[in-house]
Amino acid sequence: MAKVTVVGAGNVGATCANVLAFNKIADTVVMLDVKQGVAEGKAIDMLQTAQTLGFETNVIGVTNDYAATANSDVVVVTSGIPRKPGMTREELIGTNANIVKSVVSQCLNYSPDAVFVIISNPMDTMTYLTLKATGLPKNKVIGMGGALDSSRFKYYLRTALNANPSEIEALVIGGHGDTTMIPLKRLATNNGTPVSELLDEAALDKVVADTMVGGATLTGLLGTSAWYAPGAAGAYVVASIVNNYRRLIPSCVYLEGEYGQSDICIGVPAIIGRNGVEAIVDVKLTEEEKALFEKSADAVRKTNEILKEIKVL
Ligand code: 2OP
Repeated sequence: MAKVTVVGAGNVGATCANVLAFNKIADTVVMLDVKQGVAEGKAIDMLQTAQTLGFETNVIGVTNDYAATANSDVVVVTSGIPRKPGMTREELIGTNANIVKSVVSQCLNYSPDAVFVIISNPMDTMTYLTLKATGLPKNKVIGMGGALDSSRFKYYLRTALNANPSEIEALVIGGHGDTTMIPLKRLATNNGTPVSELLDEAALDKVVADTMVGGATLTGLLGTSAWYAPGAAGAYVVASIVNNYRRLIPSCVYLEGEYGQSDICIGVPAIIGRNGVEAIVDVKLTEEEKALFEKSADAVRKTNEILKEIKVL
């Protein structure tokens, strides 16, 4: 069984830890936070559900004690500030880049073999930063955005179709941004039937548009960014790693020529297993999808450039 560290015991990190424990995905979950007592308190609160919910996972909360994270198989990074209504994920870079850089290097000191799952925003750039700052091999750094965005795409599809959520297949590739993500409507299916045969064009385009601003919609309602779906999507990626499920998950991974892009971390379909990124899956895109992907990559690259401007890389 696995040991998983979740850095950041805020809404997203704590939800991720809770799903990992409740679903028995790890036997030890360490939550680490900078705020004195918060991770400890949430860990005890979760452990007090162990008997009523029926799980044996040990959850440990620590304040800045990286030694407690030693020998983790997976490190999930949720550190940094979430967005407020009206903000883009990209606007968080100035605050979050330094935090993420420091967190990943401290975790790596104690868990040199870990696979890193990055949730902090702007997620594509934080994934790229983790890869470049740590020098880890590319298979060991995975950004979680595609898992989340695909789950939102499936939500809007199941709502429009009044369908069973587990019978929807749908992928979102590209960046994890309001204007950069690409819900692949052409490939989405309900029980094997293309959704384009079940919804008219206007309805399908509305699903795509709603998916793209799915995070912003929740930020508007909640006053801060969402946590149940982001935390669960993180745990979904972790489960595929520690159990070697080899799930196909749209993930933010480092590209070296795949999808016509290099020196960038961006969402593409990938097989996620024990070694992290086991393979990048080459889905044939139409000319229109290729153009969207290129535009998305340009936008992600622009945000990556800020890392140099603010001297984090
Ligand atoms: C979201 O889309 C937190 O980026 C995350 O909700």
